[in-house]
Amino acid sequence: MLDIFEHHIAQKYLRRSGIAHAIAVAYHAFHLAKEQGIDVDVAAKAGLLHDMGHYTWYRNGNWDYELYRKNDIHAIKGAERAHKLLIRLGENPVRAKEISLAILFHTDSFLPTNDIVRTPLQQIVKGADEKDEEEGGLHHYRKIDKAKARASIIRLDGWIDKELENDSA
Ligand SMILES: [Fe+2]
Repeated sequence: MLDIFEHHIAQKYLRRSGIAHAIAVAYHAFHLAKEQGIDVDVAAKAGLLHDMGHYTWYRNGNWDYELYRKNDIHAIKGAERAHKLLIRLGENPVRAKEISLAILFHTDSFLPTNDIVRTPLQQIVKGADEKDEEEGGLHHYRKIDKAKARASIIRLDGWIDKELENDSA
């Protein structure tokens, strides 16, 4: 996770949608996956990267929600960007695809209907995102300092390793 988090591409896009939010969603996804017996590594990575497709919809210096609602495809872009990054960092392609699909389906906002049936992993990432949402999109603006962000990722990495050890034991 630390390699992914510190990669300049992840940093660039995660800063846009909020590093504190990305980390919080990774933590929620980890806990939900653990409870449900789903792969915690895949869930945490999808949580961390779920919003990396955000584009900033500004008009005259202010965020424009109307433009955003009309034109947003952040789930599609995020799925693509995350996939590219994961493969570049040597992720197993089957897992990279799983993570990418969970990002694609983490929101209904771009879908023509809201009746898709999600896999447990996809549901976890959606639920994890909703847990961290604040009214008016404020969750995208919450700040976290660099050292603290890094420490949170290292701690989560440790928890994931522990779970994977337990699974293989
Ligand atoms: Fe989000």
